[in-house]
Amino acid sequence: MSDKLTYKVLAVDDNDAHLEGIRHCLEDRYEIVTAASAGEALGVFSSFSPQVIIVNQYLNDTGGIEFLQQLRSINATTIRILITANGESNDAINNAVSSGDIYRYICRPIDIGDLQMTVANGLQLYESQQAESGLVQELKKKNEQLEYQNRNLSIMLDKFDDIQDRLFEMERFSAIGQMASFIIHDMKQPLDLIQSSVEALIHLQLTDDEKNDISEIVQFEMQRFTQMIYEILDYTRGKISMNFDIIPISRLFHRMDREILRYLTNYQIEYKGLLFSEEATVNVDATKFLRVPMNLIKNAIEALEGHSGIHPPSINLRVICDKDWVQFSISDNGPGIPEKIHEKLFDPFITINKSSGIGLGLAIVKRIIDEHKGRIWFKSSPESGTEFTFRLRNYLSSQEQQQ
Ligand SMILES: Nc1ncnc2c1ncn2[C@@H]1O[C@H](COP(=O)(O)OP(=O)(O)O)[C@@H](O)[C@H]1O
Ligand SMILES: [Mg+2]
Repeated sequence: MSDKLTYKVLAVDDNDAHLEGIRHCLEDRYEIVTAASAGEALGVFSSFSPQVIIVNQYLNDTGGIEFLQQLRSINATTIRILITANGESNDAINNAVSSGDIYRYICRPIDIGDLQMTVANGLQLYESQQAESGLVQELKKKNEQLEYQNRNLSIMLDKFDDIQDRLFEMERFSAIGQMASFIIHDMKQPLDLIQSSVEALIHLQLTDDEKNDISEIVQFEMQRFTQMIYEILDYTRGKISMNFDIIPISRLFHRMDREILRYLTNYQIEYKGLLFSEEATVNVDATKFLRVPMNLIKNAIEALEGHSGIHPPSINLRVICDKDWVQFSISDNGPGIPEKIHEKLFDPFITINKSSGIGLGLAIVKRIIDEHKGRIWFKSSPESGTEFTFRLRNYLSSQEQQQ
């Protein structure tokens, strides 16, 4: 393990013979220097930098223990050995050992083997302490690196949060932009028609019949325009405030039936409304709920109108009640919903084959059904037309179940 070149020993004693004895024991193994007093030893200690220091318990200028304590404060890694007088061991010595001021003490008369063994063991401890402190240094360095990386990471995370915020913002703007471009595109058509009609009324010499025709166009396009504005307002309002009321299904059905009939008077479309059972009540905001069949009917009319050759075009409303559910179906024998929009049909801005659709009608329908905790689905094909079905809980039975 150790050799003369590697380790240095400083022996301190005011007795030359004692010093010679120690030198004799150790000089074959280590480089050894001696000092006759604590004062002299201090100078040698700093220039010679020994790994082991052996100090006599009594020195001319100080006590051995005190001196070793002093050296410990200068360099804590040195192996400090005390030589005590004839077998002496006392509390001060024991305390110095247990507090670590002294590594070991050796009693006079010195046993050569004991001294050599003590120094060798001390040096082993010294080596392992050095290795440990190397490891500790390495760990410290790694820790510092980790801390540095952590700091960088947290800076990067902050930046990432920033970027994410900006992305959300961009997404929001792009949604608003997308919505604006849809709306503007769709609103332009009625506005253009209104504008050209009004110009015709002002500038052209028209007969009364022609004036009436143009006025009707203006009126119709104004209605269409107003309708679009309401749809946008409804959708952008977000969560709708609801006014729920418990009403018998017969009352709701008759309101629905009446509204649909009134709406259909302007069209050549057959209509039948059927209620199959009156044994149910529903908890609804009737005014808002009526938007559901009306939006569906409007879509059905638009599909039937845009598709000539269906004879006769027809729309049906059927309401069936059972113990748990009240189920509404609105069907038409139109051309069916194009398959490519089936999957996203209830998403906003899904519109196809229409000159003036904004694509909010079914998104509003879905939102109203959700607000009523209901369900809606559809089936549609070019052969059999389209049927939307939506359900509400039968309030009567849900109350019974709760009791
Ligand atoms: N009964 C129906 N028959 C055929 N197509 C329909 C029917 N209902 C809805 N659609 C299709 O679904 C699309 C989305 O409808 P909607 O959300 O009301 O938007 P918009 O009517 O403004 O286009 C319509 O553009 C239309 O292509
Ligand atoms: Mg619509």
